[in-house]
Amino acid sequence: MKILVTGGAGYIGSHTLIELYAAGHTAVVVDNLYNSSKESLRRVAHIVGVDEIPFYEADIRDKNKLESVFSDHQFDCCIHFAGLKAVGESVAKPLEYYENNMNGTFVLLDAMRRHGCKNIIFSSSATVYGDPAEIPITEECPKGHCTNPYGQTKSMLEEVLKDVQTADTEWNVVLLRYFNPIGAHSSGTIGENPNGIPNNLMPYITQVAIGKRKELGIFGNDYDTPDGTGVRDYIHVVDLAKAHVCALKAISRKCGLGIYNIGTGHGYSVLDVVNAFIKVNGVNVPYKIQPRRPGDIATCYCNPAKAQAELGWKAQYGIEDMCRDSWNWQKNNPNGYQD
Ligand code: NAD
Ligand code: UD1
Repeated sequence: MKILVTGGAGYIGSHTLIELYAAGHTAVVVDNLYNSSKESLRRVAHIVGVDEIPFYEADIRDKNKLESVFSDHQFDCCIHFAGLKAVGESVAKPLEYYENNMNGTFVLLDAMRRHGCKNIIFSSSATVYGDPAEIPITEECPKGHCTNPYGQTKSMLEEVLKDVQTADTEWNVVLLRYFNPIGAHSSGTIGENPNGIPNNLMPYITQVAIGKRKELGIFGNDYDTPDGTGVRDYIHVVDLAKAHVCALKAISRKCGLGIYNIGTGHGYSVLDVVNAFIKVNGVNVPYKIQPRRPGDIATCYCNPAKAQAELGWKAQYGIEDMCRDSWNWQKNNPNGYQD
């Protein structure tokens, strides 16, 4: 299939491009490079053995540019990663987040329907469950209250996409609710490249390990969890990337609407992750217990059985693989794509 990949220069998009090419698909990337660089695409091209990944530097909210992309190519499906994703920043800049994530998707969907491309895989998030009503979380679990604008955009866009598919059943819509993606491609040449101080756990750990930051702050050790620190369902980004290839197969079977949790089904605490990282990589990660981070929940992990049953997808990598590959990326690229 020929796939439009919005946000394809970013962390998850770049890893997904590799799996798309490995499965015999081709891709065209549209990205405004707000949170990424063209260097990731150059490295992806090297890994998959092509001269270049077709790329438009464009904002998906720019109707004219998007129109020219659709005029140049006939797409079978869109994998829609483009969006802003920093939770704290979304609280400070709600209008920018709503405008980019909502409006960007509206412009994209309008171009898709006008050009007869009615297949989409959307990057949703475990954040739509809020403080989950049940653990492990199944897709039947009701959506919860999102405490930040970023999460709201994911939840609202899920509803928009469901309505689009209900109104016109020619659409096939797959909503993938990612749990906590970490890790990197085994080559160590592409990975997560956060700007400024990392918000998420793994990039913070790797920056402490390489000496860029003094110590990790662990946000609370008084949660109702086995060791008191927060428990999450970390998923290797390569496994996550492969879920998109499986979702494409469902789309080619005309699946209509599909909603899937994409996680391993295992919960690891912050201390579990820190200890696994130290053990696998033989490096030190000094840490200090700090107060809880506002908006955090105690425990979040999923039951991924539906994705296995309906998409034939199951995570292959464990927490030690994730820690090894995150470190391999960081130590080979201390300054991310600027090296
Ligand atoms: P990322 O920031 O690395 O990638 C997103 C890409 O979209 C970036 O390259 C950015 O430049 C681009 N972009 C943003 N707005 C754009 C616009 N208006 N037009 C064109 N390009 C635009 O993030 P990621 O971690 O790869 O996440 C990909 C998707 O998955 C996002 O939608 C994110 O919300 C979602 N998601 C991520 C996580 C996670 O932990 N990384 C978890 C759940 C869901
Ligand atoms: C966060 C977002 C969530 C988003 C997800 C993926 C919040 C409240 N939630 O999830 O909406 O979908 O990222 O982008 O931001 N931790 C530390 N020290 C740190 C960083 C994190 O102890 O420096 C802890 C957290 O308290 C948490 C765990 O590590 O228990 C994982 O945190 P993080 O990587 O930020 O992911 P989430 O909070 O699960």
